[in-house]
Amino acid sequence: MENKKEIVLSGIRPTGSLHLGNYFGALANYVKMQDDYDCYFFVADLHSLTTHPDTSTLKEHVKNVIATMLAAGIDPQKATLYNQSHLYTTSELYLYLNMLAYKGELEKTVTFKEKVRQHPDNVNAGLLTYPVLQAADILIHLAKYVPVGKDQEQHLEMTRNFANRFNHRYGEVFPEPVAFNFNHNLVKIPSLDGEGKMSKSVNENATIYLTDEDEVIRKKVMKAKTDSGPTAPDSAMPDYIENLYALMRLVSTSDTVSHFEKAYKNCTVRYGDLKKQLAEDMVAFVAPIRRRIYEIMEDEPYINKIMTEGAEKANEHANKTMVLVRNAMGLNYF
Ligand code: TYM
Repeated sequence: MENKKEIVLSGIRPTGSLHLGNYFGALANYVKMQDDYDCYFFVADLHSLTTHPDTSTLKEHVKNVIATMLAAGIDPQKATLYNQSHLYTTSELYLYLNMLAYKGELEKTVTFKEKVRQHPDNVNAGLLTYPVLQAADILIHLAKYVPVGKDQEQHLEMTRNFANRFNHRYGEVFPEPVAFNFNHNLVKIPSLDGEGKMSKSVNENATIYLTDEDEVIRKKVMKAKTDSGPTAPDSAMPDYIENLYALMRLVSTSDTVSHFEKAYKNCTVRYGDLKKQLAEDMVAFVAPIRRRIYEIMEDEPYINKIMTEGAEKANEHANKTMVLVRNAMGLNYF
């Protein structure tokens, strides 16, 4: 008998070029999981409408995310890659789950409160119910593992709540999905300015995008905040310095990291040298990915083919879940 693989799902909003946070928080794990799990990875174009209602650049951004997923090493023969709006049934499940989500809990969601601060003139109902749509994305494939960064943890907790409420009310249909990072804590890749995390559209000068040119990367890293260095051996690191070391651990060799760690401990560290080294290691890491993204972006028929085939496979899988959902709810009239 066929050994059924466990189901994995994750998505990325097409609101701008992807960055090192998306890479280390999500893409790197997608690639690591594609051999051992039944993987569904998608572009969350519907979610992007909650904050980016202008759709004139949407198609370009969707293609950019697909190209970046491929450039990062996702193999469309192994994982199903699709665009969220090509799965109409997600919107149907979102509607049903909305009846099981309470206004109070939605208003308390951290990402909702953040978005209200950022876009006070566009606090729409889609933004409020964003976690419900995310739950529909996950539950429609009966996914068990969801590889994401730290910022998505609360959305996963809400997904489990909605799934449990559905199961209690209508009968057991959904598993309880969990945020996944191979038994490690979920990651949060810090920005270069020591404030918050790398982000697609909030702090562009402190975020390294996978499409940044070498010179742009060097400039951003060299501008990172530092100070005159520790004055006593073994002093604690301020956050903005700790962040630079955290970034170094991602892209530099362990010898480089331990060299600069020792230099910090004995107060001989020169931040100019540290940043130069970090910049070169980031350039070496990003440049090949950037080249692949641009190469793939040139081949529009290839991207379209992947999205078409992905939509077909994702629809086939989701349709099966929706039969279970409608039956459980008693929405099976004939
Ligand atoms: P999005 O598009 O903001 O980010 C995509 C993925 O990148 C991770 N990420 C980070 N990880 C670590 N450090 C950072 N600085 C950082 N910035 C972003 C995010 O955690 C995410 O894994 N709501 C989701 C999209 C979505 C989704 C889903 C995800 C819609 N439906 C279903 C999983 C399952 C989002 O806005 O991701």
